[in-house]
Amino acid sequence: MVKKNTCVFISGQGSNLQNLIARSRDNNFPIKICLIISNNKNAKGINFAKKYRIPYIIINTKIQFYENKILLNLKKYKISLICLAGFMKIIPNSLIKNYKKKILNIHPSLLPKFKGLNTYSRMLKSREIKAGCTVHFVNEKLDSGNTIIKKSFFISDNDDEKILKRKTQKLEHKAFPEAIIKILSNN
Ligand code: GRF
Repeated sequence: MVKKNTCVFISGQGSNLQNLIARSRDNNFPIKICLIISNNKNAKGINFAKKYRIPYIIINTKIQFYENKILLNLKKYKISLICLAGFMKIIPNSLIKNYKKKILNIHPSLLPKFKGLNTYSRMLKSREIKAGCTVHFVNEKLDSGNTIIKKSFFISDNDDEKILKRKTQKLEHKAFPEAIIKILSNN
């Protein structure tokens, strides 16, 4: 199997990154993680890059034209798929144009509900019945590209934000690999 060279963007913990690294070590999983990009030099997820000796770069999104540094590195590592796994910055349009239908994001809600931040607290406030996660293509509008996979569960009475996050992330770790397999098996 020819694996797609993939770059994972992170900002924090990196549990989705860790899961994708584990999956990609399987010969039958269609991606190889060749590069990790973080906008946060203190992101815990960077430790997975170090542990598995995957090249990583830290980008400062406050610098003008920072996206050029990203684009150069994506080229250098011949990246053909980008996975946003807890990347807390808006992706610049130039990047989206260069990687049309090649950027996936995972979002902790059942889109189109609860786009943006603080999904769990907003869900609880509006007394939702179901929670879950969505993997979708990235386009120019926040959390609005076509859905690839959604996974849901029923919210229990005693679910607080912490429990919702734990339950959602458990589903995310299934949904992201499934979404990758789904889009790449159509290629
Ligand atoms: C995930 O819940 C994802 O849905 C959201 O940010 C979180 C990142 O978690 N976009 P992790 O860094 O992968 O643990």
